Amino acid sequence: MKTELPLAEVYAILEPGPVLLLSTAQAGRANLMALSWHCMLDFEPPLVGCVVSAANCSFAALDATGECVLNVPEAGLARALVGCGNTHGDAVDKFAAFGLSAVPSTRVAVPRVEECYANLECRVADRQLVGRYDFFVLEVLRAWHDPAVIAPRTLHHRGYGRFMLAGEEILLGSAMR
Ligand SMILES: Cc1cc2nc3c(=O)[nH]c(=O)nc-3n(C[C@H](O)[C@H](O)[C@H](O)COP(=O)(O)O)c2cc1C
Repeated sequence: MKTELPLAEVYAILEPGPVLLLSTAQAGRANLMALSWHCMLDFEPPLVGCVVSAANCSFAALDATGECVLNVPEAGLARALVGCGNTHGDAVDKFAAFGLSAVPSTRVAVPRVEECYANLECRVADRQLVGRYDFFVLEVLRAWHDPAVIAPRTLHHRGYGRFMLAGEEILLGSAMR
C-alpha cells in the first residue's frame, strides 16, 4: 500500500538518477517510454527537467496535454523497462505488452504504473527549452511511494544496454539535506 510522500522529499527519489518509466495519455490512449535524461531543478515545489525526444510518440502527448507521470521501477521490471524503451506507442500497447497495470492518478489525466515503487504526478511548468533541446520542465504535483521499499533496487543506465543496479547504502555526514 503506497502512502503520500511529502513534496519536499521528492528530490531524494530522483537525485540518484534512476531510469524512469514516463507515462502519458492522449485521446484515451496511455503510453510509456523509458527515460534516463532527467534532473532535479528545485526542492519545493519539486521541479524536474527531462529530455523527451520529439521523435518519440510520448513527446506529442506530453506537448499536447502538458501532463505525465514519472514512475520509478526497480530491478524486477528491467525487461519491461527496456521493452518500453525499444518500442513505440503508435504500434504497441505497452501496458498490455509488458504486463504493467495502469491505475488512475489524482492530479493528472495520465495513469500511474502500479508495479513501480514510486509515482510522481507532473504537469509541464516551463516549455522555454522544448524547441531547442526537447527539454521539458515538470512540476511534481503529487508524489507516491511504497514505504516498505527502504533501499530501492533502481536501474541506472550506463549506455549500450548496460545497467547498474542500486545496492549498498552508506550514511555519511552531508551538508546537503
Ligand atoms: C534505458 C533507456 C533510456 C532512455 N532514455 C530516454 C530519454 O531520456 N529521453 C528520450 O527521449 N528517449 C529515451 N529513451 C528512448 C525511448 O524510451 C524510446 O525512443 C521509446 O521507444 C519511445 O517510445 P514512444 O515512441 O512510445 O514514446 C531511452 C531508452 C532506453 C532503453
